[in-house]
Amino acid sequence: MCGIVGYIGRREAAPIIVEGLKKLEYRGYDSFGVATINGCIELDKHQGRISDSSSSTVNLKGKIGIGHTRWATHGVPNDVNAHPHMDCNNRIAVVHNGIIENYAELKRQLVSRGHVFRSETDTEVVAHLIEDAYEKEEDLLSAVQKVVPRLTGSYALLVIASNEDRIIVARYASPLVLGVGDGEFFAASDMTPIIDYTERAIFLEDGDVASLTQDEIEIFHEGKRVTRPLELIDWSGEDTKKGGFPHYMLKEIYEQPQAFYNTVRSVTAETLPVSVKNAESVTIIACGSSYNAGLIIKYILENTCAIPVRLEFASEFKYFPPPIRGLVIGISQSGETADTITAIKQAKAHNCTSLAITNVLASSISRTADCTLFMRAGPEISVAATKSFIAQLAVLMQITSFLRNGEFDDILRSGHRAIEEVLLIDLSDAVSLCINAHSIFYVGRGPFYPVSLEGSLKMKEISYIHAEGYAAGELKHGPFALLSPETPVIAICMPGETYGVMISNIKEMKARGAPVIAIGEEGDLELPEVADIFIPLPVTHPLIQVLTSLIVLQLLAYYTAVSLNRDVDKPRNLAKSVTVE
Ligand code: AGP
Repeated sequence: MCGIVGYIGRREAAPIIVEGLKKLEYRGYDSFGVATINGCIELDKHQGRISDSSSSTVNLKGKIGIGHTRWATHGVPNDVNAHPHMDCNNRIAVVHNGIIENYAELKRQLVSRGHVFRSETDTEVVAHLIEDAYEKEEDLLSAVQKVVPRLTGSYALLVIASNEDRIIVARYASPLVLGVGDGEFFAASDMTPIIDYTERAIFLEDGDVASLTQDEIEIFHEGKRVTRPLELIDWSGEDTKKGGFPHYMLKEIYEQPQAFYNTVRSVTAETLPVSVKNAESVTIIACGSSYNAGLIIKYILENTCAIPVRLEFASEFKYFPPPIRGLVIGISQSGETADTITAIKQAKAHNCTSLAITNVLASSISRTADCTLFMRAGPEISVAATKSFIAQLAVLMQITSFLRNGEFDDILRSGHRAIEEVLLIDLSDAVSLCINAHSIFYVGRGPFYPVSLEGSLKMKEISYIHAEGYAAGELKHGPFALLSPETPVIAICMPGETYGVMISNIKEMKARGAPVIAIGEEGDLELPEVADIFIPLPVTHPLIQVLTSLIVLQLLAYYTAVSLNRDVDKPRNLAKSVTVE
């Protein structure tokens, strides 16, 4: 979690850093701060969100600077715990994304040597350690190189010193990308703050330390000078803006036809790794929405290809690893989810072949896994996953189609059209019912059960209404006790084998007083009779109905949250990229 930005060049650094931090707020937004070099170090940091602030930060002077937007781990969100953190003499400033696991021991040692700490953070030890090393030889690069081997945990660090015209950066297990402009360089947690200025990027490896001056970037690994490839990023600056939409989430929901279309076309027989083509069994490891995508595909792969699929929460896998073999797939939009990366490492240690499915080029998961399939969703800024979820399904459905000798290729290649249609569905009646709900149940069967899980996750994370997804048959084994007129049920009821039993389930729920919103196929005559509200979806293949029903649930959560005046893009207590266990 946390976002960091650094700038060195001919322009004033603070405005560039402030704008960059606003774009990284999806990584954390409880406090922020910037430090620049202007003879001495100028520092400005505050509790709260940089996007809500009309603060003085942007007026800091200097052409070298570093900044941070925080998701608190050590110490409450307040002005003091906000980054940057300084040494005792205010000559060194540090911003950090990650966790220094051995900070308590390091802090004890530093305090015993007379260092005075101001904050409760783990990060502050880094500033004081560098202070010690810097005092000996007054060389910031070599001071940082001496300090990083002493740190346990994860870090992307940007460090400046008042009398050096450079930024020293270091990374281990936290993302850090360098932007290469003309006579200026950038460092950031991802490309979004950089892409407006340059599309040329360098992704640092774990253990790299680099020095950025106005003229050059020098990269070192274990003390030796190394080179890292220059990559061209095909995102545009516009992709990272709202483009006229009131929220990133709505923009990203509307980008789903394109995300699906682009991703489907990117997964071909040529790009599929051999391990996938020959898979006899699959273990999928993921968290949150990515887990729900995995569960949808478990239903689809097992039923269409007879391939056994095991699905594991990455957070459980680490401590309770099941016996696994064969292909292990880690799904992670951000590519930085700590639990998923750890699980992939464990799977590799068990001699499994690992495949990452991610949206972010050069993300940690793609560096860890044996091979990677990249989604083509483009940057997703809103904390709630939407287009990345659809793109994950695009990759996994294409794999399914390949394993069925291309059976679903045509269906998937035209799937974006049905997705476009559902974006225009009127949900106002359903929203009116949801905004007054005390709690909402979502039910479905087969792949529509994980669709209900994902729909309820969207609702709870952005509207703050309690919502639960259930396999429809399970509701009567306990949750029925909760049904009431204030507890609507959203039932996904598509034609097929389970249609009849779903209709019976809906009647049972109605009989217990729960209002029912039914999502079904256009032309259905029974659902409008049995449900209070019927939402018709286009007639299409069942694989595509998984997508269209899901998108309706995203929109329902979105409009409910907007009606309740929630902070849709930055829901309370959350961050997009969960880089802590
Ligand atoms: C869902 O809207 C959330 N953003 C969350 O559940 C997310 O899917 C989860 O944290 C996993 O993230 P990842 O895909 O980046 O690994």
